[in-house]
Amino acid sequence: MATTHPYYAEKGLSAAFYDTVTAADARLEGDLEIYASLCPPGGAILELGAGTGRLTFGLAERGFSVTGVDIAPAMLAQASAKRAELDPAIARRVELKRGDMTALDLKQTFDLVICPYFTLAHVPRGAAWKNTFATASRHLKPGRLAAFHLPRLEIMRMPGPADPSQPVLDQPAPSGGRLLLYVRERSFREDVGRMDQVMEYVELDGRGAVLRRSLERQIFYYTDPAPLAAGEHLAPERDPIPLGDVGDIHVFLKA
Ligand SMILES: C[S@@+](CC[C@H](N)C(=O)[O-])C[C@H]1O[C@@H](n2cnc3c(N)ncnc32)[C@H](O)[C@@H]1O
Repeated sequence: MATTHPYYAEKGLSAAFYDTVTAADARLEGDLEIYASLCPPGGAILELGAGTGRLTFGLAERGFSVTGVDIAPAMLAQASAKRAELDPAIARRVELKRGDMTALDLKQTFDLVICPYFTLAHVPRGAAWKNTFATASRHLKPGRLAAFHLPRLEIMRMPGPADPSQPVLDQPAPSGGRLLLYVRERSFREDVGRMDQVMEYVELDGRGAVLRRSLERQIFYYTDPAPLAAGEHLAPERDPIPLGDVGDIHVFLKA
């Protein structure tokens, strides 16, 4: 197999086509409303792994102030470009920062911390998860909530498609051509709770010729979040909220 690149890298197609892929993903439907319902009206939200701002701007449009932190410049650049196009009254409620959620201290507290769409699963379980829960706890006012959307273990254990030569997604691309997405390899290691998959992004022009392609390795980790969160003064506040049959939003209360 040709060289694979990490997800969301500079010039990577997973970053370039993030909005195309997520817009087509019905399994995320309703997440914005769930997060909005967890915050008092007009409250301040910290989003860990804000990416291209898929949720960030929608939350600001609903009257919240949102600080979005992300480690990947390729994702933050898209979020910044979108903010520049926003109504200034809404743009003023959004702050974007480059940072690592496993070691973040903004010296500020919020009414809600969110870590959406499997962002916590991107970092190794164990110390990195514990440190992310510490980040959430450090940035929360007492009595407020933190919400972490995690993939389900049974989904991570699933084998890849029976025929890896068939795209799992075929969507119009913003360039006027098409984006094809393939799962070329997938494996799961029980001992470390790690799913490893190689995705191939292929962009075609309007006549079907390949414009760009890139192989990108996506890694997700899983463990029960509750014991690690408990060590950082975050207790489960309700049963996890199911989302799209593939994941759950785990909601914790800061003591
Ligand atoms: C699946 S995207 C989620 C983006 C957005 N919140 C959404 O729901 O569409 C995961 C994001 O987490 C970011 N990320 C991964 N590890 C991170 C870390 N240690 N600190 C901050 N962001 C991280 C990635 O760069 C990526 O933009």
